[in-house]
Amino acid sequence: MSETTSDAMLRIEGLSAGYGPATVLHGLSFSLAQGDSLALLGRNGAGKSTTIKAIMGLVRREAATLSFDGQAIGSLPPQKIARLGVGYVPEERRIFAELTVAENLEVGRRPARSDAPEWPEQRLYDLFPELHAMRDRRAGRMSGGEQQMLTIARTLAGNPRILLLDEPAEGLAPVVLDRIADTVATLRAEGLTLLIAEQSLGFAAEVASRCVVLESGQIAHSGDMAELAADSSLRDRLLSV
Ligand SMILES: Nc1ncnc2c1ncn2[C@@H]1O[C@H](COP(=O)(O)OP(=O)(O)O)[C@@H](O)[C@H]1O
Ligand SMILES: [Mg+2]
Repeated sequence: MSETTSDAMLRIEGLSAGYGPATVLHGLSFSLAQGDSLALLGRNGAGKSTTIKAIMGLVRREAATLSFDGQAIGSLPPQKIARLGVGYVPEERRIFAELTVAENLEVGRRPARSDAPEWPEQRLYDLFPELHAMRDRRAGRMSGGEQQMLTIARTLAGNPRILLLDEPAEGLAPVVLDRIADTVATLRAEGLTLLIAEQSLGFAAEVASRCVVLESGQIAHSGDMAELAADSSLRDRLLSV
């Protein structure tokens, strides 16, 4: 194993993936070390969600070396990948509408791991006091922002080692967006490894230290998040619509 291999927690090499006959990702390579926070940026349709789904085993991978903690995950099914400690917060908020907030959190509960932060119920409520106040409410009766918080909290209840967030800021009012950004920044400060697909540059700049920018399923740029945020011509070239 090379040095980069052993340093990486999640390593993606030559990832091509798609739907049916269509290939939408063309040979992506990037990796995250433990404690990294990486934003996956790009215009609508660039391939951000597909990249995250390919890591989770939810779309067809055509070619790839995918490894998590040195273990090959390229042909494992999604539930096995999740069990290794890969937490996934999908674009469409996945809550059980008929269950209460507390019950939703119980559904996400997994045994503690020695190598990941542990999230007992009280700690989740410390992170999201809003959820504590409505823990007996049925999740279907919450706002979009509250459902997003619940989805993140439920994923944390599985005590993940890495969190994959797909556009956590999408469709949220600015005040809620700030709340989610603060929370994700807290998780980052706690040392949780984060991969965040995002269209909002402002959100990404608040929560990520590195970035990978996708364009038509290929990496158009990768580097320091703050540098990209500060470089308006680079931003315009890569991200303006
Ligand atoms: N279920 C699907 N079936 C076929 N094509 C899809 C599907 N989902 C996404 N795509 C296509 O894959 C490409 C990348 O989409 P996606 O990963 O969702 O982009 P992003 O998340 O960056 O907006 C787009 O061209 C999109 O139309
Ligand atoms: Mg997407």
